Amino acid sequence: MAKVIAVANQKGGVGKTTTAINLSTALAATGKKILIIDLDPQGNTSTSFSIPKDNSEHNIYTVLLGKSNVTDAIEKTIIPNLSIIPASMSLAATEIELSNIDDNFRFILKKKISSINSKYDYIVVDCPPSLGVLTINALAASSEILIPLQCEFFALEGLKHLIEVFNLVKKNLNSQLIINGIVLTMYDKRNNLTELVEQDVRQCLGDLVYNTNIPRNVRLSEAPSHGKPILAYDISCSGSLAYIEMSREFLQREKIYRGVS
Ligand SMILES: Nc1ncnc2c1ncn2[C@@H]1O[C@H](COP(=O)(O)OP(=O)(O)OP(=O)(O)O)[C@@H](O)[C@H]1O
Ligand SMILES: [Mg+2]
Repeated sequence: MAKVIAVANQKGGVGKTTTAINLSTALAATGKKILIIDLDPQGNTSTSFSIPKDNSEHNIYTVLLGKSNVTDAIEKTIIPNLSIIPASMSLAATEIELSNIDDNFRFILKKKISSINSKYDYIVVDCPPSLGVLTINALAASSEILIPLQCEFFALEGLKHLIEVFNLVKKNLNSQLIINGIVLTMYDKRNNLTELVEQDVRQCLGDLVYNTNIPRNVRLSEAPSHGKPILAYDISCSGSLAYIEMSREFLQREKIYRGVS
């Protein structure tokens, strides 16, 4: 069965999509079978793989609403072992629509992906920057939450709120949910605040924080406009090396903390 990883943080622009794409690509490069689900109406993950949102009649929106079969919505990407279910702009309306169609609307994503779970090692869900119905569906369907955190002044405050929501979801919707880890993104060691925030975060959260920091790297921000993950755009830049290192740590942590080989 696939491990389902929700990449979530209600704060916008902290590196969720960049992490979902590039961690997935680095894991796929090791031979793991990956499905990435673009659960954000912005559709940034989809366009970063040269798959425009609303490109096809099948996408995660039509799957959630029961208008498409989940297998029809899966598309191949340019990366071997890595498939995607693209987003749709209509996802913005699901907040209201999902609660109208089913009393169990928080479990719709979980139900929809249950039939494809066995085909993948990991299903990575890129969440929108909110704690609405879509993110709650992702957390209810996931085994783990991975939290990208940008080293800035209010980072810990936002994180506190996210962890409260994590605890609520764990108590009420998904007792199996665990925190995979917190990864520091857009890390800039020339900036004093970055180091201070890092110290704080590591002191508060200890082993939950990945040893690997993702540096601020202009190549990472260029890659989406070329429709490629960083490993396919510039494999030797600092962003690529960091996500390769993070993927190693991801697999290592799995062995250490959960005894999975
Ligand atoms: N390590 C990095 N170095 C430089 N630029 C980065 C890095 N990580 C992300 N970016 C850029 O910062 C912007 C925000 O990143 P990203 O889209 O991954 O964040 P997000 O959390 O998914 O945003 P949203 O909340 O809107 O979905 C993008 O333009 C991205 O290319
Ligand atoms: Mg995003």
